[in-house]
Amino acid sequence: MNKSLEEHWQEVYHKKNENEVSWFQKSPKLSLDLICSLNLNLDSHIIDIGAGESRLVDNLLNLGYTNISVLDISLKSIEKTKKRLGLKSKLVNWIVSDINDFKPKHKYDLWHDRAAFHFLKDSLEIKNYIKLLKNSLNIDANLIIATFSENGPLKCSGLEVSRYSKNSISNLLKNDFKLIKSEISIHNTPFNTTQEFLFTKFKKK
Ligand SMILES: C[S@@+](CC[C@H](N)C(=O)[O-])C[C@H]1O[C@@H](n2cnc3c(N)ncnc32)[C@H](O)[C@@H]1O
Repeated sequence: MNKSLEEHWQEVYHKKNENEVSWFQKSPKLSLDLICSLNLNLDSHIIDIGAGESRLVDNLLNLGYTNISVLDISLKSIEKTKKRLGLKSKLVNWIVSDINDFKPKHKYDLWHDRAAFHFLKDSLEIKNYIKLLKNSLNIDANLIIATFSENGPLKCSGLEVSRYSKNSISNLLKNDFKLIKSEISIHNTPFNTTQEFLFTKFKKK
């Protein structure tokens, strides 16, 4: 029987330590640089989509942001991040949900997604994610999406991914989002291999 998506990711986070997955970053530096360039108010509503055990939330808390949400399909990844943060975890809004089923309770000023959106392969799911973005972000809100680039791997965690170029991702989003910046970034995995990412920053029209 095929594993569900949730089972797949639960198993990953049950079996592997933080630094035993290809996407591990000691510091999510490029995401932080892009976020700092936005000069957001500290009470801006920020969400990290498919955050896993990313240390982005630790850094955002240290920077003083007070309205941070973290979403992942895997309860285990959220439990591990909460444990790492200790008491500070109480300052974060934790959401265990498949992004395909996510019904936000309010709108966000910043939506960050590193290596989650690219798992969507089905054109209807991609369309629905874009609809979700459109409906969940305030006007002038910021969107940071990092995916594998055209030269990136075909798979991540054994699952096929969609790869994007600056043009292909901005075309997908062009009705509601204006591309502000894009950057290719080479990620060094813990296994001494490299992966080419495309980081993009958009503004909601
Ligand atoms: C490659 S990891 C990236 C984790 C994190 N963003 C980072 O940069 O370290 C992908 C993450 O997306 C989550 N994910 C995958 N598909 C998802 C979905 N449909 N809904 C919500 N989260 C999902 C996984 O559980 C995993 O934590």
